[in-house]
Amino acid sequence: MDQIIVTGNGAVNGQIPIAGAKNACLTLMPACLLSEEPLTLTNAPRLSDIKTMTELLESLGAEISTLSDGQVIAMSCHGEMNHVADYEIVRKMRASNLVLGPLLARLGEAVVSLPGGCAIGARPMDIHTDGLELMGATIELKDGYLHAKAPTGGLKGAVIDFPFASVGATENIMMAATLAKGTTVINNAAREPEIVDLADCLRRMGAQISGDGTSSITIEGVDRLGAATHPVVTDRIELGTYMLAPAICGGEVECLGGRLSLVESFVEKLNMAGVDVTETDKGLKVARKNGRLKALDVTTEPFPGFPTDLQAQMMAMLCTASGTSVLEEKIFENRFMHAPELVRMGASIEVHGGTATVHGVDKLKGAPVMATDLRASVSLILAGMAAEGETVVRRVYHLDRGYEKVVSKLSGIGAKIERVKET
Ligand code: UD1
Repeated sequence: MDQIIVTGNGAVNGQIPIAGAKNACLTLMPACLLSEEPLTLTNAPRLSDIKTMTELLESLGAEISTLSDGQVIAMSCHGEMNHVADYEIVRKMRASNLVLGPLLARLGEAVVSLPGGCAIGARPMDIHTDGLELMGATIELKDGYLHAKAPTGGLKGAVIDFPFASVGATENIMMAATLAKGTTVINNAAREPEIVDLADCLRRMGAQISGDGTSSITIEGVDRLGAATHPVVTDRIELGTYMLAPAICGGEVECLGGRLSLVESFVEKLNMAGVDVTETDKGLKVARKNGRLKALDVTTEPFPGFPTDLQAQMMAMLCTASGTSVLEEKIFENRFMHAPELVRMGASIEVHGGTATVHGVDKLKGAPVMATDLRASVSLILAGMAAEGETVVRRVYHLDRGYEKVVSKLSGIGAKIERVKET
Protein backbone atom coordinates (compact mmCIF):
# COMPACT_ATOMS: atom_id res chain seq x y z
CA MET A 1 0.00 0.00 0.00
CA ASP A 2 1.22 3.50 -0.79
CA GLN A 3 1.69 6.40 1.58
CA ILE A 4 2.26 10.10 0.99
CA ILE A 5 5.08 12.00 2.66
CA VAL A 6 4.68 15.77 2.91
CA THR A 7 7.28 18.13 4.34
CA GLY A 8 6.40 21.73 5.24
CA ASN A 9 8.09 23.87 2.62
CA GLY A 10 6.78 27.43 2.99
CA ALA A 11 4.75 29.42 0.48
CA VAL A 12 3.30 27.91 -2.71
CA ASN A 13 3.19 29.69 -6.07
CA GLY A 14 2.13 28.91 -9.63
CA GLN A 15 -0.80 27.35 -11.46
CA ILE A 16 -2.86 24.20 -10.89
CA PRO A 17 -5.19 22.75 -13.54
CA ILE A 18 -8.57 21.71 -12.15
CA ALA A 19 -10.13 18.51 -13.53
CA GLY A 20 -13.71 17.70 -14.44
CA ALA A 21 -15.92 16.98 -11.43
CA LYS A 22 -15.89 13.47 -9.98
CA ASN A 23 -19.42 13.86 -8.64
CA ALA A 24 -20.72 15.17 -11.96
CA CYS A 25 -19.03 12.41 -13.95
CA LEU A 26 -20.42 9.72 -11.62
CA THR A 27 -23.98 10.83 -12.36
CA LEU A 28 -23.42 11.58 -16.07
CA MET A 29 -22.06 8.09 -16.73
CA PRO A 30 -25.25 6.21 -15.64
CA ALA A 31 -27.22 8.51 -17.97
CA CYS A 32 -25.85 6.35 -20.81
CA LEU A 33 -28.23 3.59 -19.65
CA LEU A 34 -31.17 5.75 -20.76
CA SER A 35 -30.39 5.56 -24.49
CA GLU A 36 -29.52 3.03 -27.19
CA GLU A 37 -27.32 5.65 -28.77
CA PRO A 38 -23.83 6.61 -27.59
CA LEU A 39 -23.06 9.13 -24.86
CA THR A 40 -19.56 10.59 -24.86
CA LEU A 41 -18.16 12.60 -21.96
CA THR A 42 -15.16 14.89 -22.36
CA ASN A 43 -13.11 16.53 -19.58
CA ALA A 44 -13.58 13.41 -17.42
CA PRO A 45 -11.34 13.08 -14.34
CA ARG A 46 -8.93 10.10 -14.12
CA LEU A 47 -9.98 8.54 -10.81
CA SER A 48 -10.57 5.12 -9.28
CA ASP A 49 -14.26 5.96 -8.66
CA ILE A 50 -14.66 6.47 -12.41
CA LYS A 51 -13.10 3.02 -12.99
CA THR A 52 -15.57 1.54 -10.49
CA MET A 53 -18.51 3.17 -12.31
CA THR A 54 -17.12 1.87 -15.63
CA GLU A 55 -16.98 -1.65 -14.19
CA LEU A 56 -20.56 -1.35 -12.90
CA LEU A 57 -21.96 -0.02 -16.19
CA GLU A 58 -20.12 -2.73 -18.16
CA SER A 59 -21.68 -5.35 -15.89
CA LEU A 60 -25.07 -3.89 -16.88
CA GLY A 61 -24.32 -4.23 -20.60
CA ALA A 62 -22.69 -0.90 -21.52
CA GLU A 63 -19.81 -0.87 -23.98
CA ILE A 64 -17.25 1.65 -22.77
CA SER A 65 -14.01 2.88 -24.23
CA THR A 66 -11.73 5.62 -23.00
CA LEU A 67 -9.61 7.95 -25.12
CA SER A 68 -7.19 10.83 -24.51
CA ASP A 69 -5.63 9.15 -21.49
CA GLY A 70 -9.03 8.67 -19.84
CA GLN A 71 -10.33 12.20 -20.34
CA VAL A 72 -12.88 11.06 -22.90
CA ILE A 73 -15.33 8.30 -22.00
CA ALA A 74 -17.43 6.87 -24.84
CA MET A 75 -20.37 4.75 -23.68
CA SER A 76 -23.04 2.85 -25.56
CA CYS A 77 -25.94 0.65 -24.43
CA HIS A 78 -27.30 -0.72 -27.72
CA GLY A 79 -27.07 -4.44 -26.97
CA GLU A 80 -28.58 -6.75 -24.41
CA MET A 81 -28.70 -5.25 -20.93
CA ASN A 82 -28.68 -6.64 -17.42
CA HIS A 83 -30.73 -5.01 -14.63
CA VAL A 84 -28.82 -6.32 -11.59
CA ALA A 85 -26.22 -4.08 -9.93
CA ASP A 86 -24.14 -6.47 -7.86
CA TYR A 87 -23.14 -5.84 -4.24
CA GLU A 88 -19.47 -6.61 -5.00
CA ILE A 89 -19.27 -3.44 -7.12
CA VAL A 90 -21.89 -1.27 -5.38
CA ARG A 91 -20.26 -1.69 -1.95
CA LYS A 92 -17.10 0.03 -3.23
CA MET A 93 -18.87 3.29 -3.97
CA ARG A 94 -22.18 4.73 -2.87
CA ALA A 95 -22.68 6.64 -6.15
CA SER A 96 -23.41 3.22 -7.73
CA ASN A 97 -27.00 3.78 -6.58
CA LEU A 98 -27.33 6.26 -9.47
CA VAL A 99 -28.05 3.37 -11.85
CA LEU A 100 -31.42 2.71 -10.15
CA GLY A 101 -33.43 5.48 -11.85
CA PRO A 102 -32.00 4.96 -15.36
CA LEU A 103 -32.39 1.13 -15.26
CA LEU A 104 -35.97 1.40 -14.07
CA ALA A 105 -36.82 3.96 -16.75
CA ARG A 106 -35.18 2.08 -19.63
CA LEU A 107 -35.83 -1.58 -18.70
CA GLY A 108 -38.83 -1.25 -16.36
CA GLU A 109 -36.91 -3.28 -13.80
CA ALA A 110 -33.85 -2.83 -11.58
CA VAL A 111 -32.23 -4.84 -8.83
CA VAL A 112 -29.65 -2.70 -7.08
CA SER A 113 -27.70 -3.61 -4.00
CA LEU A 114 -28.15 -1.18 -1.11
CA PRO A 115 -24.76 0.50 -0.72
CA GLY A 116 -24.71 0.24 3.06
CA GLY A 117 -23.21 2.84 5.37
CA CYS A 118 -19.86 4.49 4.90
CA ALA A 119 -17.34 6.12 7.17
CA ILE A 120 -19.11 9.49 7.16
CA GLY A 121 -22.59 8.26 8.05
CA ALA A 122 -25.55 5.95 7.47
CA ARG A 123 -26.60 7.38 4.08
CA PRO A 124 -30.04 5.76 3.51
CA MET A 125 -31.94 5.77 0.15
CA ASP A 126 -35.50 6.44 1.30
CA ILE A 127 -35.78 9.75 -0.59
CA HIS A 128 -34.82 8.01 -3.86
CA THR A 129 -37.23 5.09 -3.36
CA ASP A 130 -40.16 7.20 -2.07
CA GLY A 131 -39.87 9.38 -5.21
CA LEU A 132 -39.78 6.39 -7.57
CA GLU A 133 -42.80 4.86 -5.78
CA LEU A 134 -44.75 8.08 -6.41
CA MET A 135 -43.92 7.51 -10.09
CA GLY A 136 -45.65 4.14 -9.87
CA ALA A 137 -42.70 1.86 -9.12
CA THR A 138 -42.98 -0.96 -6.60
CA ILE A 139 -39.84 -1.37 -4.55
CA GLU A 140 -38.99 -4.14 -2.12
CA LEU A 141 -35.88 -4.76 -0.09
CA LYS A 142 -34.81 -8.43 -0.30
CA ASP A 143 -31.46 -9.89 0.80
CA GLY A 144 -29.77 -6.47 0.80
CA TYR A 145 -31.01 -5.61 -2.69
CA LEU A 146 -33.66 -3.11 -3.76
CA HIS A 147 -35.97 -4.87 -6.24
CA ALA A 148 -37.72 -2.16 -8.24
CA LYS A 149 -40.37 -2.62 -10.94
CA ALA A 150 -42.09 0.00 -13.08
CA PRO A 151 -45.85 -0.39 -13.73
CA THR A 152 -47.00 -1.85 -17.08
CA GLY A 153 -46.53 0.94 -19.60
CA GLY A 154 -43.62 2.46 -17.68
CA LEU A 155 -43.04 5.05 -14.96
CA LYS A 156 -45.53 7.90 -14.68
CA GLY A 157 -44.86 11.58 -14.03
CA ALA A 158 -45.56 12.74 -10.46
CA VAL A 159 -45.19 15.71 -8.16
CA ILE A 160 -42.50 14.78 -5.64
CA ASP A 161 -41.79 16.89 -2.57
CA PHE A 162 -38.41 15.96 -1.10
CA PRO A 163 -38.09 16.15 2.71
CA PHE A 164 -34.42 17.10 2.15
CA ALA A 165 -32.63 18.41 -0.96
CA SER A 166 -30.72 15.17 -1.58
CA VAL A 167 -28.23 15.39 -4.44
CA GLY A 168 -28.36 11.71 -5.39
CA ALA A 169 -32.17 11.47 -5.15
CA THR A 170 -32.58 14.55 -7.36
CA GLU A 171 -30.27 12.93 -9.94
CA ASN A 172 -31.95 9.52 -9.82
CA ILE A 173 -35.49 10.93 -10.13
CA MET A 174 -34.46 13.42 -12.83
CA MET A 175 -32.97 10.59 -14.94
CA ALA A 176 -35.96 8.28 -14.35
CA ALA A 177 -38.42 11.06 -15.26
CA THR A 178 -36.84 11.75 -18.66
CA LEU A 179 -38.47 8.58 -20.06
CA ALA A 180 -41.62 8.57 -17.86
CA LYS A 181 -45.13 9.21 -19.20
CA GLY A 182 -46.13 12.80 -18.46
CA THR A 183 -44.67 15.53 -16.27
CA THR A 184 -42.60 15.12 -13.12
CA VAL A 185 -41.98 18.00 -10.73
CA ILE A 186 -39.31 17.68 -8.03
CA ASN A 187 -39.86 20.21 -5.23
CA ASN A 188 -37.09 20.96 -2.74
CA ALA A 189 -34.66 19.61 -5.36
CA ALA A 190 -30.90 19.91 -4.85
CA ARG A 191 -29.34 22.90 -6.66
CA GLU A 192 -25.71 21.76 -6.94
CA PRO A 193 -23.79 22.60 -10.16
CA GLU A 194 -23.53 18.84 -10.79
CA ILE A 195 -27.38 18.72 -11.07
CA VAL A 196 -27.31 21.51 -13.66
CA ASP A 197 -24.56 19.66 -15.52
CA LEU A 198 -26.64 16.46 -15.58
CA ALA A 199 -29.69 18.41 -16.82
CA ASP A 200 -27.53 19.99 -19.57
CA CYS A 201 -26.32 16.57 -20.66
CA LEU A 202 -29.81 15.05 -20.61
CA ARG A 203 -31.11 17.99 -22.67
CA ARG A 204 -28.35 17.30 -25.23
CA MET A 205 -29.69 13.73 -25.35
CA GLY A 206 -33.18 15.10 -26.08
CA ALA A 207 -34.73 15.33 -22.59
CA GLN A 208 -37.16 18.12 -21.69
CA ILE A 209 -36.01 19.61 -18.38
CA SER A 210 -36.42 23.08 -16.86
CA GLY A 211 -35.78 24.66 -13.48
CA ASP A 212 -32.47 22.89 -12.76
CA GLY A 213 -30.36 25.08 -10.50
CA THR A 214 -33.55 26.10 -8.62
CA SER A 215 -35.48 24.17 -5.96
CA SER A 216 -38.18 23.08 -8.39
CA ILE A 217 -37.26 21.00 -11.42
CA THR A 218 -39.80 20.03 -14.11
CA ILE A 219 -39.21 17.10 -16.44
CA GLU A 220 -41.55 16.31 -19.36
CA GLY A 221 -41.10 12.65 -20.26
CA VAL A 222 -40.13 11.80 -23.86
CA ASP A 223 -40.30 8.46 -25.72
CA ARG A 224 -36.59 8.04 -26.28
CA LEU A 225 -33.26 9.77 -25.80
CA GLY A 226 -30.55 10.04 -28.45
CA ALA A 227 -26.79 10.43 -28.73
CA ALA A 228 -24.80 13.28 -27.16
CA THR A 229 -21.32 14.54 -26.38
CA HIS A 230 -20.99 16.51 -23.16
CA PRO A 231 -18.08 18.16 -21.31
CA VAL A 232 -17.99 17.45 -17.55
CA VAL A 233 -18.26 20.62 -15.41
CA THR A 234 -15.18 21.74 -13.40
CA ASP A 235 -14.70 20.01 -10.04
CA ARG A 236 -15.62 22.65 -7.44
CA ILE A 237 -14.36 20.47 -4.60
CA GLU A 238 -10.94 19.90 -6.17
CA LEU A 239 -10.95 23.65 -6.92
CA GLY A 240 -11.72 24.60 -3.31
CA THR A 241 -9.16 22.11 -2.02
CA TYR A 242 -6.31 23.58 -4.08
CA MET A 243 -7.45 27.15 -3.33
CA LEU A 244 -6.70 26.32 0.29
CA ALA A 245 -3.03 25.54 -0.47
CA PRO A 246 -1.95 29.21 -0.76
CA ALA A 247 -4.47 30.14 1.94
CA ILE A 248 -2.73 27.79 4.39
CA CYS A 249 0.90 28.05 3.23
CA GLY A 250 0.96 31.62 1.91
CA GLY A 251 1.83 32.56 -1.68
CA GLU A 252 -0.26 32.98 -4.83
CA VAL A 253 -1.82 30.22 -6.91
CA GLU A 254 -4.04 30.36 -9.98
CA CYS A 255 -6.51 27.46 -10.21
CA LEU A 256 -7.07 27.00 -13.94
CA GLY A 257 -10.65 26.44 -15.02
CA GLY A 258 -12.11 27.64 -11.68
CA ARG A 259 -15.11 30.00 -11.66
CA LEU A 260 -16.46 32.04 -8.73
CA SER A 261 -20.03 30.86 -9.36
CA LEU A 262 -18.96 27.32 -8.37
CA VAL A 263 -17.56 28.28 -4.97
CA GLU A 264 -19.22 31.53 -3.84
CA SER A 265 -20.05 30.61 -0.24
CA PHE A 266 -16.57 29.12 0.19
CA VAL A 267 -14.87 32.24 -1.21
CA GLU A 268 -16.94 34.41 1.11
CA LYS A 269 -15.41 32.53 4.07
CA LEU A 270 -11.89 32.73 2.60
CA ASN A 271 -12.28 36.50 2.24
CA MET A 272 -13.46 36.79 5.86
CA ALA A 273 -10.37 34.86 7.00
CA GLY A 274 -8.07 37.24 5.08
CA VAL A 275 -7.49 35.46 1.76
CA ASP A 276 -7.81 37.33 -1.57
CA VAL A 277 -9.59 35.63 -4.47
CA THR A 278 -9.88 37.14 -7.95
CA GLU A 279 -11.44 35.75 -11.10
CA THR A 280 -9.07 35.84 -14.09
CA ASP A 281 -9.52 34.86 -17.77
CA LYS A 282 -8.12 31.44 -16.95
CA GLY A 283 -9.52 30.68 -13.53
CA LEU A 284 -9.34 31.84 -9.91
CA LYS A 285 -6.26 33.46 -8.41
CA VAL A 286 -5.85 33.00 -4.67
CA ALA A 287 -3.34 34.94 -2.56
CA ARG A 288 -2.46 35.22 1.06
CA LYS A 289 0.25 37.79 1.43
CA ASN A 290 0.78 38.87 5.02
CA GLY A 291 -0.38 38.20 8.52
CA ARG A 292 -2.20 35.41 10.25
CA LEU A 293 -5.61 34.22 9.10
CA LYS A 294 -8.69 34.99 11.21
CA ALA A 295 -10.92 32.35 12.81
CA LEU A 296 -14.30 31.62 11.19
CA ASP A 297 -17.69 30.10 11.91
CA VAL A 298 -18.62 27.65 9.15
CA THR A 299 -21.86 25.65 8.74
CA THR A 300 -22.17 23.07 5.98
CA GLU A 301 -25.38 23.22 3.95
CA PRO A 302 -26.76 22.09 0.59
CA PHE A 303 -25.63 24.28 -2.35
CA PRO A 304 -25.39 27.28 -2.51
CA GLY A 305 -24.31 26.95 1.15
CA PHE A 306 -20.84 25.88 2.30
CA PRO A 307 -20.13 22.36 0.91
CA THR A 308 -19.68 19.47 3.33
CA ASP A 309 -17.03 18.14 0.93
CA LEU A 310 -14.79 21.14 1.80
CA GLN A 311 -15.33 21.03 5.56
CA ALA A 312 -12.28 18.87 6.38
CA GLN A 313 -9.96 20.96 4.21
CA MET A 314 -11.29 24.19 5.75
CA MET A 315 -10.66 22.76 9.20
CA ALA A 316 -7.02 22.18 8.23
CA MET A 317 -6.75 25.90 7.44
CA LEU A 318 -8.48 27.01 10.65
CA CYS A 319 -6.10 24.97 12.84
CA THR A 320 -3.55 27.80 12.61
CA ALA A 321 -5.92 30.80 12.31
CA SER A 322 -5.94 33.32 15.13
CA GLY A 323 -8.84 32.78 17.55
CA THR A 324 -11.52 30.13 17.91
CA SER A 325 -13.44 28.73 14.94
CA VAL A 326 -16.65 26.74 15.08
CA LEU A 327 -17.50 24.24 12.32
CA GLU A 328 -21.00 22.83 12.24
CA GLU A 329 -21.62 19.74 10.08
CA LYS A 330 -25.27 19.64 8.99
CA ILE A 331 -25.14 17.09 6.14
CA PHE A 332 -23.41 13.98 7.51
CA GLU A 333 -23.53 12.84 11.14
CA ASN A 334 -20.00 11.47 11.40
CA ARG A 335 -17.75 13.67 9.36
CA PHE A 336 -15.08 14.85 11.80
CA MET A 337 -12.75 11.84 11.69
CA HIS A 338 -9.95 14.07 10.44
CA ALA A 339 -10.12 16.06 13.71
CA PRO A 340 -8.23 13.52 15.89
CA GLU A 341 -5.62 13.16 13.13
CA LEU A 342 -5.12 16.94 13.00
CA VAL A 343 -4.82 16.90 16.82
CA ARG A 344 -1.93 14.43 16.39
CA MET A 345 -0.26 17.21 14.39
CA GLY A 346 -0.65 19.68 17.27
CA ALA A 347 -4.08 21.17 16.48
CA SER A 348 -6.45 22.03 19.31
CA ILE A 349 -9.91 20.71 18.37
CA GLU A 350 -12.90 19.57 20.43
CA VAL A 351 -15.75 17.70 18.79
CA HIS A 352 -19.24 17.51 20.33
CA GLY A 353 -21.82 15.84 18.08
CA GLY A 354 -22.04 17.80 14.85
CA THR A 355 -19.90 20.70 16.08
CA ALA A 356 -16.13 21.05 16.08
CA THR A 357 -14.43 23.89 17.94
CA VAL A 358 -10.96 24.73 16.70
CA HIS A 359 -8.65 26.85 18.85
CA GLY A 360 -5.99 28.28 16.54
CA VAL A 361 -2.40 27.32 17.34
CA ASP A 362 0.75 29.01 15.97
CA LYS A 363 2.07 26.05 14.05
CA LEU A 364 1.28 22.42 13.29
CA LYS A 365 3.95 19.74 13.53
CA GLY A 366 4.43 16.83 11.14
CA ALA A 367 3.24 13.40 12.36
CA PRO A 368 2.21 10.00 11.02
CA VAL A 369 -1.54 10.20 10.31
CA MET A 370 -4.25 8.01 8.84
CA ALA A 371 -6.60 9.02 6.03
CA THR A 372 -10.13 8.00 7.00
CA ASP A 373 -12.08 9.10 3.93
CA LEU A 374 -11.58 10.97 0.69
CA ARG A 375 -11.83 14.59 1.84
CA ALA A 376 -10.23 13.88 5.21
CA SER A 377 -7.16 12.49 3.46
CA VAL A 378 -6.54 15.62 1.44
CA SER A 379 -7.07 17.82 4.52
CA LEU A 380 -4.14 16.01 6.15
CA ILE A 381 -1.96 16.69 3.10
CA LEU A 382 -2.84 20.40 3.22
CA ALA A 383 -2.10 20.49 6.96
CA GLY A 384 1.21 18.70 6.32
CA MET A 385 2.21 21.28 3.71
CA ALA A 386 2.08 24.01 6.36
CA ALA A 387 3.44 21.94 9.27
CA GLU A 388 6.97 21.85 10.61
CA GLY A 389 8.74 18.66 9.57
CA GLU A 390 7.42 15.50 7.97
CA THR A 391 3.85 14.21 7.81
CA VAL A 392 3.23 10.66 6.61
CA VAL A 393 -0.33 10.07 5.37
CA ARG A 394 -1.36 6.40 5.28
CA ARG A 395 -4.31 4.75 3.46
CA VAL A 396 -4.00 7.04 0.47
CA TYR A 397 -6.24 4.83 -1.66
CA HIS A 398 -9.01 7.14 -0.43
CA LEU A 399 -7.29 9.99 -2.29
CA ASP A 400 -7.19 8.08 -5.58
CA ARG A 401 -10.99 8.01 -5.53
CA GLY A 402 -11.23 11.78 -5.92
CA TYR A 403 -7.94 13.55 -6.72
CA GLU A 404 -6.06 12.87 -9.95
CA LYS A 405 -2.30 13.45 -10.00
CA VAL A 406 -2.36 15.05 -6.54
CA VAL A 407 1.41 14.69 -6.04
CA SER A 408 2.38 16.28 -9.36
CA LYS A 409 -0.24 19.04 -9.06
CA LEU A 410 0.97 20.07 -5.60
CA SER A 411 4.67 19.63 -6.48
CA GLY A 412 4.01 21.97 -9.40
CA ILE A 413 3.27 24.84 -7.00
CA GLY A 414 6.27 24.12 -4.78
CA ALA A 415 5.00 21.60 -2.23
CA LYS A 416 7.45 18.98 -1.01
CA ILE A 417 5.40 15.85 -1.45
CA GLU A 418 6.09 12.29 -2.59
CA ARG A 419 4.22 9.03 -2.85
CA VAL A 420 6.11 5.96 -1.72
CA LYS A 421 5.40 2.30 -0.98
CA GLU A 422 4.60 1.69 2.70
CA THR A 423 7.54 -0.04 4.33
C1 UD1 B 1 -23.51 13.74 -2.87
C2 UD1 B 1 -22.03 13.76 -3.19
C3 UD1 B 1 -21.21 13.86 -1.92
C4 UD1 B 1 -21.67 15.07 -1.11
C5 UD1 B 1 -23.16 15.02 -0.88
C6 UD1 B 1 -23.69 16.26 -0.18
C7 UD1 B 1 -21.90 12.42 -5.20
C8 UD1 B 1 -21.41 11.17 -5.84
N1 UD1 B 1 -21.69 12.52 -3.89
O1 UD1 B 1 -23.75 12.56 -2.10
O2 UD1 B 1 -19.84 13.99 -2.28
O3 UD1 B 1 -20.99 15.06 0.14
O4 UD1 B 1 -23.84 14.91 -2.15
O5 UD1 B 1 -23.37 17.41 -0.88
O6 UD1 B 1 -22.40 13.31 -5.86
N2 UD1 B 1 -30.25 11.17 2.77
C9 UD1 B 1 -31.30 10.47 3.32
N3 UD1 B 1 -32.06 9.68 2.48
C10 UD1 B 1 -31.79 9.59 1.15
C11 UD1 B 1 -30.71 10.31 0.59
C12 UD1 B 1 -29.95 11.10 1.44
O7 UD1 B 1 -31.56 10.55 4.52
O8 UD1 B 1 -32.52 8.87 0.45
C13 UD1 B 1 -29.37 12.01 3.67
C14 UD1 B 1 -27.95 11.45 3.72
O9 UD1 B 1 -27.82 10.42 4.66
C15 UD1 B 1 -27.15 12.67 4.08
C16 UD1 B 1 -27.92 13.81 3.36
O10 UD1 B 1 -29.22 13.29 3.10
O11 UD1 B 1 -27.17 12.90 5.47
C17 UD1 B 1 -27.25 14.27 2.08
O12 UD1 B 1 -27.19 13.24 1.16
P1 UD1 B 1 -27.23 13.45 -0.42
O13 UD1 B 1 -27.44 14.89 -0.75
O14 UD1 B 1 -28.17 12.45 -0.97
O15 UD1 B 1 -25.74 13.07 -0.81
P2 UD1 B 1 -25.25 12.05 -1.87
O16 UD1 B 1 -26.01 12.21 -3.15
O17 UD1 B 1 -25.14 10.69 -1.29
